[in-house]
Amino acid sequence: MPYLEACVSETLRLHNPVSAVGRIAAQDYTIGDTGITLPKGMLVNFSIQSMHRNPDYYPEPDRWNPERFMPYNRDKLVPYTYMPFGLGPRNCVGIRFALMEAKTVVVSLVNRFKFIRTPKTTVPLVQTKFQFLYNTGDVYVGVERRK
Ligand code: HEM
Repeated sequence: MPYLEACVSETLRLHNPVSAVGRIAAQDYTIGDTGITLPKGMLVNFSIQSMHRNPDYYPEPDRWNPERFMPYNRDKLVPYTYMPFGLGPRNCVGIRFALMEAKTVVVSLVNRFKFIRTPKTTVPLVQTKFQFLYNTGDVYVGVERRK
């Protein structure tokens, strides 16, 4: 189960369904010593995807590597760099349900079927269009019933 959990976490890092989250500045706010001041009322979008693919936080960022999320590696993750469900008081209310659902589906399918590459399978999976929800276009995989 820890490995399944790590697989789901790593997939949500590499292919996070929601590409960005937004917040509105509640007051004028200067970011550290950058000289940048956000005026009250400004909409700020955080690109989750850029954070998840930043090599400073995730070495070899384009490689799907569940090991990053195994319990013995979790303390190497930099706080606030992993946010597939957003962060803070307005983060996703469905986190637990979504993770439970994803793991249940994977277990149920992998128990009965093998998923294999076909000549039409795109490796690596390429994002076809940058938009609010992750979009890869059509995804082709082969499915074989386990004996
Ligand atoms: C893999 C599945 C899911 C992903 C990746 C996801 C991701 C997100 C993200 C990024 C946000 C914005 C959080 C922020 O602004 O900080 C959000 C908000 C929200 N999500 Fe999800 N979500 C998922 C599944 C679900 C499910 C299953 C439910 C309901 C059962 C749900 C209900 C909500 C609601 C109600 C909000 C708005 C929360 C608020 O504004 O206070 N989500 N989700």
